[in-house]
Amino acid sequence: MAKRKIRRIGILTGGGDCPGLNAVIRGVTKPALDHGLKVFGILDGFEGLVEGKAQELYNKDVSGILATGGTILGSSNKGDPFHWPEEQNGKLKIVDRSNDALKNYNAWNLDVLIAIGGDGTMYIANRLSQMGIKFIGVPKTIDNDLYATDQTFGHDSAVFVVSEALDRLHTTASSHHRVMVIEVMGRYAGWIALNGGLAGGADIILIPEIPFEWDVIYDKVSMRHMMGKRFSIVCVAEGAKPIDGKMITKARDKKRTDPIQLGGIGEFVAKKITHNTGLETRFTVLGHLQRGGSPTPYDRILSTKFGTNAIKLAIKGQYGKMVALKGTEIKSVKIVDAISKQKLIRTNDQAVLSACAVGVSFGIEKI
Ligand code: F6P
Repeated sequence: MAKRKIRRIGILTGGGDCPGLNAVIRGVTKPALDHGLKVFGILDGFEGLVEGKAQELYNKDVSGILATGGTILGSSNKGDPFHWPEEQNGKLKIVDRSNDALKNYNAWNLDVLIAIGGDGTMYIANRLSQMGIKFIGVPKTIDNDLYATDQTFGHDSAVFVVSEALDRLHTTASSHHRVMVIEVMGRYAGWIALNGGLAGGADIILIPEIPFEWDVIYDKVSMRHMMGKRFSIVCVAEGAKPIDGKMITKARDKKRTDPIQLGGIGEFVAKKITHNTGLETRFTVLGHLQRGGSPTPYDRILSTKFGTNAIKLAIKGQYGKMVALKGTEIKSVKIVDAISKQKLIRTNDQAVLSACAVGVSFGIEKI
């Protein structure tokens, strides 16, 4: 039986923003308009779906946005319809507003919703699809931790920022014979630290997947100092932890889809190095600089490929699928498979092996 022709699509950007979101919105909208479809941009992620906030998108809205950071639609990591924070009598209550999401989807007469987001967004999309909302997913996140795609868009831009920061830290570290510790994002995965550290020539890379030993770090920086090296650079993922310790949590916020806000390991590592080696150490937390600004050319291209293929899937009626990069090709995978597990770094990853081959330490004796 021929699939019913779609006429109206919705598009939303969920979770934390990243460079390339606008390029995807453009990549979806331009071909959709050419096909005679109406496109509705849902504002502020799932929050807009629950609260009924959307605007129709025209060519003029998506023109000239390829290189701009952020998202023209707005985003939120507090808008989970199944976990909706509401103040009641001065107290925070978590309520289920998924029915409101469904009501708005039906009221807008949407045939399909393109959800651009990370694991949280795909998880919500999967649950809403069980209530009847049709979804196509597009994998976004600087963290690159989404399973079932070789790379998410946004990651390359974050890696670029880290590598540039490391270049800058190298020169000042070298002038002062210092150890420089840089803390980067990535949540429970170390992709940003690994790829950024490798690109920026870090001497030590600490990632959540490989819990580290303090003594190995002290020995490495002390040895470099003794050999007359003028600096040591440590690139630490926010989720990295010592073998006998835990990840450092900066704050908790029940309103967020993931209540845990990581942060603080960079400062901790820097203090421990100074205390145990006597070497002068400074730390830098790169923070949201990794998420802001213009996407790299790689991310612009990947985002455009993802967007244009997502609308193709929608037109073909391939609901419940997410576009994914497999090697050099854009394929589709089931959203439910994409959220089945997290993509973490394995010790036999080529980047880990190459880093070891050029003398980078992961804070343990042997990988
Ligand atoms: O998932 C993207 C990310 O930037 C993580 O790397 C980081 O832990 C988190 O979001 C920060 O979230 P927020 O912007 O809400 O502080």
